[in-house]
Amino acid sequence: MSKRIAVYPGSFDPIHNGHLDIVEKCRRVFDEVIIAVLGNEAKEPVFSLADRVEMISHQLRQCADCTVTSFDGLLVDFMEQAQAQIIIRGLRAVSDFEYEFQMALMNRRLNPSIETVFMVPREEYIYLSSRLVKEVFFLGGNLVGLVPDPILERLAEVAASRGSGSAS
Ligand code: PNS
Repeated sequence: MSKRIAVYPGSFDPIHNGHLDIVEKCRRVFDEVIIAVLGNEAKEPVFSLADRVEMISHQLRQCADCTVTSFDGLLVDFMEQAQAQIIIRGLRAVSDFEYEFQMALMNRRLNPSIETVFMVPREEYIYLSSRLVKEVFFLGGNLVGLVPDPILERLAEVAASRGSGSAS
């Protein structure tokens, strides 16, 4: 039987515990998980693409069946290159649904052999997003238990370089 490969794409700016929970769930279902980080500078990420790939790789260093890489352009083109047919997306709330549904249908239209599988993170992470992580961190809020410590340290470095106050 061929390997079941899942691609988990995203901006991951930065990765948080909700993302890591989805990766754990994927590992139970698929033989290999490729975390594909979008190199879209138009979104003006806080962390460079190289930093995001490096931070995620560090978090998943014990995971032999995980690969962390970056991509540009269409996700379906990356899927073909990776010889993968399953896209994983985390679904947190009804508010995610419309955007995710549109993407799933467009990706299927672009390549009908590709399926999108939605996974729901644990309840304690259901409200968590990278956008909120950045906002709360840079305003000095406590994110312990929601974001891995090494990522909090990297956020603190960014805050220090910007001269903005922060707490962990
Ligand atoms: O974490 P995000 O920012 O919600 O992830 C969005 C992502 C990276 C999955 C999406 O923007 C994407 O796939 N971008 C690549 C370009 C593409 O294929 N666009 C058409 C999607 S239907």
